[in-house]
Amino acid sequence: MEEQMDYSMAWLSYRKNPLFPDREYFRKIYVQENEAVIHTAAKELSRAAEAMFDESSQIITIVKEAPENSSAGIYLYTDKNGPGNGGYHLYEEGGRLTITAKEPSGILYGCFALIRKAQRLLSLKNLDYKEEPDNPLRMLNHWGNMDGSIERGYSGDSFFFKSQELLINERTVDYARLVSSIGINGVVINNVNVKENATKLISEDYAEDLKQLAMIFRNYGISLYLSLNFAAPMELGGLDTADPEAAEVKDWWEKQMKQVYASVPDLGGFLVKADSEGRPGPFTYQRTHAQGANMLANAVKPYGGVIIWRCFVYNCTQDWRDRKTDRARSAYDSFSPLDGQFVDNVILQIKNGPMDFQVREPVSSLFGALQRTRQILEVQIAQEYTGQQRHVCYLIPEFKEILEFHTRCTKERDTVADIISGRAFPQFAGGITAVANTGSDTNWTGHDLAAANWFGFGRLAFSPSLTAGEIAEEWCECTFGPDKEITEAVCRILMMSWPAYEKYTSPLGIGWMVNPHNHYGPNVDGYEYDRWGTYHRADHYGLGVERGSKGTGYAQTYLEPNASMYETIEDCPEELLLFFHYVPYTYRLKNGKTLIQHIYDTHFEGVEDVQKMIALWNGIRERIPEDIFMRVSERLEHQLEHAKEWRDQINTYFYRKSFIEDEKGREIY
Ligand code: GCU
Repeated sequence: MEEQMDYSMAWLSYRKNPLFPDREYFRKIYVQENEAVIHTAAKELSRAAEAMFDESSQIITIVKEAPENSSAGIYLYTDKNGPGNGGYHLYEEGGRLTITAKEPSGILYGCFALIRKAQRLLSLKNLDYKEEPDNPLRMLNHWGNMDGSIERGYSGDSFFFKSQELLINERTVDYARLVSSIGINGVVINNVNVKENATKLISEDYAEDLKQLAMIFRNYGISLYLSLNFAAPMELGGLDTADPEAAEVKDWWEKQMKQVYASVPDLGGFLVKADSEGRPGPFTYQRTHAQGANMLANAVKPYGGVIIWRCFVYNCTQDWRDRKTDRARSAYDSFSPLDGQFVDNVILQIKNGPMDFQVREPVSSLFGALQRTRQILEVQIAQEYTGQQRHVCYLIPEFKEILEFHTRCTKERDTVADIISGRAFPQFAGGITAVANTGSDTNWTGHDLAAANWFGFGRLAFSPSLTAGEIAEEWCECTFGPDKEITEAVCRILMMSWPAYEKYTSPLGIGWMVNPHNHYGPNVDGYEYDRWGTYHRADHYGLGVERGSKGTGYAQTYLEPNASMYETIEDCPEELLLFFHYVPYTYRLKNGKTLIQHIYDTHFEGVEDVQKMIALWNGIRERIPEDIFMRVSERLEHQLEHAKEWRDQINTYFYRKSFIEDEKGREIY
């Protein structure tokens, strides 16, 4: 029995606008090819037209290019000289709107771009707009488990799994519609921690389901990917080893892959978390990550698959007394010596920072160090450490900073965006992925405003030159309609949210200070005497981790001049000061404030920022659907209370450590 589906269509919730002057174009949609993705594109246009303008469009198949005098409408053409790699050209001329692209996926993205313009009631006359995706791979990583739970999920259960089965229903199609509308072309459906039944996803047991799921995805230009258990030859195949150099292990993987690809011939490939946080990997057999990854890559090579190998590898049983071992160094130390050793269908997936998705971290020094390896940047829109989708925290400004960071790996084109897109080292293109923030909640993301991160991630992955503000505006107008007052208020809330979160939580890049395990809420010493390598090292005189050459030397893993910049307290960007250095409370920042005063001030300010967000939200009450208004209001109220808790715990902790009074005499406990 099919379950009753109850969910919104987020930014694809079309609003009625029957008086939109340019609606006529949508009456006739001309398509040339009988091709699944183009068919999807035409269907999406007609569906949008029906919902927005009460127009039922006619989809007309034409054999070759329409004659000059043919009527108004939308023309979808593939053109071998058109923009490639999923890019498209959308233009209006003499009453005809045309979308051309080299590939069908480009046509689909062009159609969704057109729909977005119509949703925002922008004029379609004289339109001339080209977009080509920057990143070949634009992915989402879902951390869903086979029992339906989601690791670090904050918006309900998985909509891919329930009770050890795959869920394939209407919502699956609507998910594909939503993510393809923002240009996503690859989706990993299961958790990177592959255990128990998830190991069997590559067995016959799930072959039929995967086939069906892949077909739904395929129609929307999305490739299906799975996370893999490195120990599957033992846990599933009954072998007594998973040694990547053992002949029986190689044989087993080859057979297994042959079978998987027989049911899903265009399966994108596999994501692997190996030798990390207890997951099995090649280290058990004294083999390197390159040996492990290459063995799997060879097994999927005949089918055009890729192995995406994660670099989130560190010692999670560290001794807090040990000041030499530095978790921040770990990905760099493990993978930079292997540069050039991976076969060409291996892509290394690197978390944006050297630690773990904190509100502020430097860009991982692996970006820049690797110059002969394909790379994917991994960010997290599931707000594990940024308010768990109960706090509003729009992360696109952060992702922009990461993408624009100059690694200095080449004279020009040396940013993270240049590296992952393949501009820096053309034969080593990769892409970008986000740990997904969606679940079975009605609004998909728990917090309605968290959908801006979902939408924004896709748009940014496609077009990193868009500003965070432009993306916020686009999302807002597609979601709530083009209402100036809503757009202004919501965009202001979004744009102030990441800085606000940073202010009232842990200061200047030090990170952590959260409750262990669930990672929610303040607990300054929560991880201080633990094994996870996440310390603040605060004492009576100061705080911070010394990562210059007199400390752990992490600063020196960057290319110059970045290494020198991070090396000294004076040159280090202040927002990262405590990440790189132990700094006395009395140290004066560039604005003349002492470090301790900065901590006090930002924590008071962060709470005031949340109060401003609440006022902005209340100001548009009449314009927002009641259910959404209430949901967001409740969360904002919680955010305010929780921000106060953060403020008071952090300020009190450092006041009690330092004995230094707040210059402004505010209440600290
Ligand atoms: C974080 C997170 C884990 C997750 C891990 C990963 O540590 O807390 O739940 O498994 O990242 O990215 O693999």
